[in-house]
Amino acid sequence: MSKQYNITLIDGDGIGPEITKSVVDIIESTGLKIDWDSCFAGARAIEKFGEVLPDETIKSIEKNKIALKAPITTPIGKGFKSVNVELRRHFDLYANVRPSKNIPNVITPFKNVDLVIIRENTEDIYAGLEEKIDDNTIHGIKLITKQGCKRICKFAFNYAIKNNRKKVTVATKANISKLADGMFLDTFREVSVNYNKIEASEILIDNLCMQLVANPNQFDCLVMPNLYGDIVSDLCAGLVGGLGVAQSANIGDSCAIFEAVHGSAPDIANKGIANPTGLLRSAILMLNYIKEQNCAKIIETALFETYKEGKFLTPDINNIKGGATTKEFSDNVIKKIKAIV
Ligand code: NAI
Repeated sequence: MSKQYNITLIDGDGIGPEITKSVVDIIESTGLKIDWDSCFAGARAIEKFGEVLPDETIKSIEKNKIALKAPITTPIGKGFKSVNVELRRHFDLYANVRPSKNIPNVITPFKNVDLVIIRENTEDIYAGLEEKIDDNTIHGIKLITKQGCKRICKFAFNYAIKNNRKKVTVATKANISKLADGMFLDTFREVSVNYNKIEASEILIDNLCMQLVANPNQFDCLVMPNLYGDIVSDLCAGLVGGLGVAQSANIGDSCAIFEAVHGSAPDIANKGIANPTGLLRSAILMLNYIKEQNCAKIIETALFETYKEGKFLTPDINNIKGGATTKEFSDNVIKKIKAIV
């Protein structure tokens, strides 16, 4: 009998519920058994619970250890904490994994991009340590710890081994941030000694940005502190077709949350034209994480075939005039899955 999984599902705001339905239907069509525990976070959680991140959502993730999360709308200027930062902090999801790989038929200036950004996800300026010295002076603290550097560098090398990758490059600004980035770089060097099958290389973050838009194919795995990773991973999404198709995973030692990187797209919510690819590719990362590699491969093959065929793509892809609806797109992926299984 096939295994049954319990997974927390946050369908978010704006286009969140539309793309979540597509992804759930697509996974279901493979025959994999998942008991989804639907929970709230974001603007709809405020309407129902009076808070952006209700306790029952936290409890569900604590119990299931895995969540799939659609984008949420961040209330501006109302004093609510960031749900994403809070989830990463609460569950100590210290590794943000953002693969960047071309999709067939998505027009970009680059071909054969296949790299992964591994971003430290809990420290740096995201620790929220800011203080007002006087009306004209703010101190923002960049928190970097030895333990934080060590675990993310080890994660990057272990990821490279598990995913058959050859090289890990560390990106810092250690020439200027001599203590904080200096420690990140030193720790990378110490950790790399234990992984003699993986090439270790170093680059300064500004040069990395230039190299990425000139020749991204030279990179394989990249590891870096939180803020650089935040910025560079969006740059890398741009290399392969934008945020709508980018996937991400937030991984800790005991828990993982998988999410699309784009926002809740209020401008196209309820129009039935949202592209579910980003969330679907994040779900593929999730399926690999729970060791359902076969199911992950089937969905990826069906997704890529849908793109290759090019008949049922949503309007955001290549600025297609008209384009398919979210449902037409996912029905087509499901049709291709059924032809495989
Ligand atoms: P956005 O990513 O929601 O939208 C930017 C543009 O991309 C819009 O034109 C939108 O229509 C388009 N777009 C995004 N995802 C798409 C998809 N799947 N299919 C087709 N088109 C898509 O960014 P924006 O407008 O800055 O933010 C809207 C809300 O989302 C804000 O409240 C923001 O705070 C929140 N947000 C949430 C995130 C999360 O929960 N992980 C991440 C980023 C933003």
